[in-house]
Amino acid sequence: MVRSPRLIEVDRQEPAAIRAELSGELAASPAVISPKYFYDALGSRLFAAITELPEYYPTRTEAAIFARHVEAIAAGLPSGLTLVDLGAGNCEKAARLLVPFAVRTYVAVDISAAFLRDSLERLQQQHPDIDMLGVGTDFSHRLSLPGEIGDGPRLLFYPGSSIGNFTPAQALDFLRQLQRAAQGGSLLIGVDLLKPVEVLEAAYDDSLGVTAAFNRNLLRHINRLIGSDFALADWRHLALFNGAQSRIEMHLEAVRAVSVRWPGGERAFAAGERMHTENSYKWRPEDFAALLGKAGFSAIQRWTDERGWFAVFLAQAGEGR
Ligand code: TRP
Repeated sequence: MVRSPRLIEVDRQEPAAIRAELSGELAASPAVISPKYFYDALGSRLFAAITELPEYYPTRTEAAIFARHVEAIAAGLPSGLTLVDLGAGNCEKAARLLVPFAVRTYVAVDISAAFLRDSLERLQQQHPDIDMLGVGTDFSHRLSLPGEIGDGPRLLFYPGSSIGNFTPAQALDFLRQLQRAAQGGSLLIGVDLLKPVEVLEAAYDDSLGVTAAFNRNLLRHINRLIGSDFALADWRHLALFNGAQSRIEMHLEAVRAVSVRWPGGERAFAAGERMHTENSYKWRPEDFAALLGKAGFSAIQRWTDERGWFAVFLAQAGEGR
């Protein structure tokens, strides 16, 4: 019989705490919604669809870099590796690395262990000899890896330019946490790079409207979580490149004056008022390498595609400090 992956939840947030936090964020001026709520079941599927869009280059560009350089990357890794996949989702990216990296233990981390169950079970069938563990935790503020993941040499894997969803100051803080959590191992991270504005804006506002659906689905999820009455027809998706900050900004804009109610709160929005839902920072490769150095990483290696649109970095955490 094939062994089955273990699933554990760490610091799970109670529904009442989620409601309190969200209603505070919605009542604030300007209203904000934490981007972690993008990924309910439908949101995760919509994001998977985004990665298939011709305009959304990051996923396929990163995959091509991994496919082309997998051996060079593997050459820098120790044997008996524990691969810690941060934001694993459907586990597809890591799945292609398990064999070339000779992974002994695979740890998939995402906001909910329940989301990981199906993909991990499928992966376990294909790789019966790899020890697999699913960890449900919100690591966006603090990364705490449970002792169950063992003490094999660690490779933290943070693909998809999720690091771009942090401000540079938050990214530095998060990388420092990764440096400690790696316990002397290494980090493999994908970073989206600065490029012509038209390419960037199309990637975040595709002609089929999938990204718009993904952004607006946030409101459906919030309605379910706190019982609010956001009407989706009142909101439109906006993606703008902010050159001064080197980031794509995602907003939801009220198309008319609306008022939203939920048990315990209410909020009026003027026509044209925006909620800023997500940032996606675009880095220069040398600036990101410097950030890794500042966070305590060394022996930084970098691979990019021919167009120089996306970069993959491998960096050593050195002995833990
Ligand atoms: N991490 C992805 C990115 O920054 C997330 C993403 C893609 C996203 N499209 C989006 C987030 C649209 C919000 C809205 O590329």
